[in-house]
Amino acid sequence: FSQGTLSLLLMYKQQEVAATQPNKFPQVILFLLERKMGASRRAFLSQLGRRKGFQVEELFSKNVTHVICESNTAQEARMWLEAQGAGQAGRHLLDVSWYTESMRDGHPVEILDRHKLQVQQHFHKCSEFAVNDSEVTPFSVPGYACQRRCTLENHNAVLTDALSLLAENAELSDEDGRGVAFRRAAAVLKALPSAVTNMSQLTGLPCLGGHSLRVIKDILENGTSSEVESTKESERFKALKVLTGIFGVGSKTADRWIREGIHNLQQLRDSGQTLNRAQQAGLEHYDDIKQPVSLAEAEAIRGIVGRAVASVSPEAQIVLTGGFRRGKLTGHDVDFLITHPEEGSEVGLMPKLVSWLESRVSFYAALLISKQPKMIVVMFKSIVTFSKILLNVISGIFLYGQKFRAVLEMGGRWRAVRVDLVVSPISQFAFALLGWTGSKLFERELRRWAGHEKGMSLSSHALYDNKQLSCLQGRYIRASSEEEIFAHLGLEFIPPNERNA
Ligand code: UTP
Ligand code: MN
Repeated sequence: FSQGTLSLLLMYKQQEVAATQPNKFPQVILFLLERKMGASRRAFLSQLGRRKGFQVEELFSKNVTHVICESNTAQEARMWLEAQGAGQAGRHLLDVSWYTESMRDGHPVEILDRHKLQVQQHFHKCSEFAVNDSEVTPFSVPGYACQRRCTLENHNAVLTDALSLLAENAELSDEDGRGVAFRRAAAVLKALPSAVTNMSQLTGLPCLGGHSLRVIKDILENGTSSEVESTKESERFKALKVLTGIFGVGSKTADRWIREGIHNLQQLRDSGQTLNRAQQAGLEHYDDIKQPVSLAEAEAIRGIVGRAVASVSPEAQIVLTGGFRRGKLTGHDVDFLITHPEEGSEVGLMPKLVSWLESRVSFYAALLISKQPKMIVVMFKSIVTFSKILLNVISGIFLYGQKFRAVLEMGGRWRAVRVDLVVSPISQFAFALLGWTGSKLFERELRRWAGHEKGMSLSSHALYDNKQLSCLQGRYIRASSEEEIFAHLGLEFIPPNERNA
């Protein structure tokens, strides 16, 4: 396969990235109702609207002309308005579909009947699992995370944080099996439509093993789990977290250092250990890399990498994948997928991209003298290192900087950002897009489903049917969209923002 990946560490000039456009539609003042939509989806949609030049209010006020709801009935929205001391008078109560269509078209679309909130409750998504507060009804969810719609909303964060910490500890200790078990259990709780209050609600749920159930029971009964608390405080866990937080350091290296008495960055610096170039850069930029990357930064970086791609191959396309494609507002890195509409033309794109980025110091000067106001000025410092070069898979570190002219004059601060670049031939693009959008557990569950339920092998390159057809072997199944891959797997299509397992 000629798919290549490149992990980079970029130096990035920090500044307030202008995320909004001036209000283009002064007669339309929008407010998104958080109820049922969830805080993170609301924040994501609001930011999207502002970028498109809409006025989206953070707080409700009498000036609001359009109230946007998701899965609320007209009565619920009216009751909410009354609770704010405002009536419906003169206001549109609209379904989120009106909002998303307006975002798509770049202007407020005509309000049709189907956009208006329904009077009757219309059942939606997980409503078959809805619980009546007065009695304990067990939850029910399908067994594979890739069969579940899971947004960023999480009603059981206390429980899932605890299980995720145990998963992380297991993964850092090279106990992957235990890690996956905790991850699966956390994903089941994350998919529930409300908070678990009673162990009996969990009866019959998949993926909840004895160990996970004990942890959940502890937290429901005592507010904390002693195992989680002692893990969190253990010297070994703390040391593993700090050391593997260095770009280029995995759990095996961290474990070896710990056995040699190295538990923190200072001890590592003092130890005289030989570090490879990736690790040296990882240590140098440790604080930057630990700091989450915002969506605004990811989009600024997209602009820059997009320009680099366009320069080396004008027809090539670039897509933001990973957590940001799933609607996350922050990430530990920025993931891009690059392809070319003509099969084969993506060959050699990665090395060209790398040398273009490496030679950007002069580009920086050229852009600097540009007269365009608000022009994003880019400066790529230098490629620090690659941590892994295996055939066409490249993982590495890269430094880059980016400046607005104004910020440049004021003197901002450089920061390092991890960036993953993946180049895929167009024939594999749908598989790469699906494979790099995540979440990690969602991907793992897709592959488990493919193998166990369908006798197929799924990767970010291809889908292969292992079942013998006519004579000797299986066959590759083509797909040009994510929707087609889900269909081949016999799964209902789950959009990216609902793959947050
Ligand atoms: P990330 O680790 O970047 O996860 O991998 P994320 O969901 O974007 O999380 P944050 O927001 O950065 O913290 C993104 C996707 O790329 C795949 C993972 O399986 C995940 O689906 N991936 C990552 C690979 O396939 N191979 C890798 O070497 C790394
Ligand atoms: Mn990512």
